[in-house]
Amino acid sequence: MTSWTNGCKSVNSSTTTVMKIKSADFLMSNSSVDKCPNQQLPEYAFIGRSNVGKSSLINMLTSRKNLAKTSGRPGKTQLINHFKINDNWFLVDLPGYGYARVSKKDKKTFQKYITDYFLRREQLVNAFLLIDIRHEAQKIDLEFMQWLGENGIPFSIIFTKADKLKPKAIERNVKNYLDHLLMGAWEEVPIHFVTSSSNRMGREEVLDYIEEINLEFYQKK
Ligand code: GTP
Ligand code: MG
Repeated sequence: MTSWTNGCKSVNSSTTTVMKIKSADFLMSNSSVDKCPNQQLPEYAFIGRSNVGKSSLINMLTSRKNLAKTSGRPGKTQLINHFKINDNWFLVDLPGYGYARVSKKDKKTFQKYITDYFLRREQLVNAFLLIDIRHEAQKIDLEFMQWLGENGIPFSIIFTKADKLKPKAIERNVKNYLDHLLMGAWEEVPIHFVTSSSNRMGREEVLDYIEEINLEFYQKK
């Protein structure tokens, strides 16, 4: 059985004011973990299927409309993109997986630099795995979660596009998804968030969570 221990951090409910985003700057794009910034800052990466809403979520969290490039067509983000926030942490936008029109060769290249990024990026303190809240659990996401767990990479789940469903359906779909995980290889429910980049649902919760991990990171230093 795989456990969530690495990814589990309790959210501090006493936080009352949401973290202010004073600055959010694009720093660089590249296709190799070796070329990523060498600053020792805590880093959060967004991963998930193409078109799930990774880049839109970065814009929503930072309240910057066009910081990360988005598109209605899958396959928009192609590289590892670093955004420096408040001068002391990074958000990282990654290409999506599961895009059917990508050639086998491109898939392999993608796999190599993304897996390298996750395995070798010491500054990565948490991966956010994005799941479209409208869909049932899909093999490719479950496999990726499994792989993160096996490699001890801390992660949490972000359900996206919640504006597309009514509250009852949101609740039902999240429950079904988590039940599915519990019936599979996982023995605990992961930390998870329900978000919408259209109506900003979940923004405060995700930022609180990041802030809590940042505090831990800087206390340890
Ligand atoms: P790739 O870079 O191709 O992997 O995609 P991505 O995961 O970065 O998705 P992106 O943010 O580019 O969004 C894909 C599409 O979904 C765009 O048309 C967005 O406007 C739309 N979208 C993203 N988030 C939301 C959301 O919360 N609600 C709604 N209704 N649409 C969303
Ligand atoms: Mg993108």
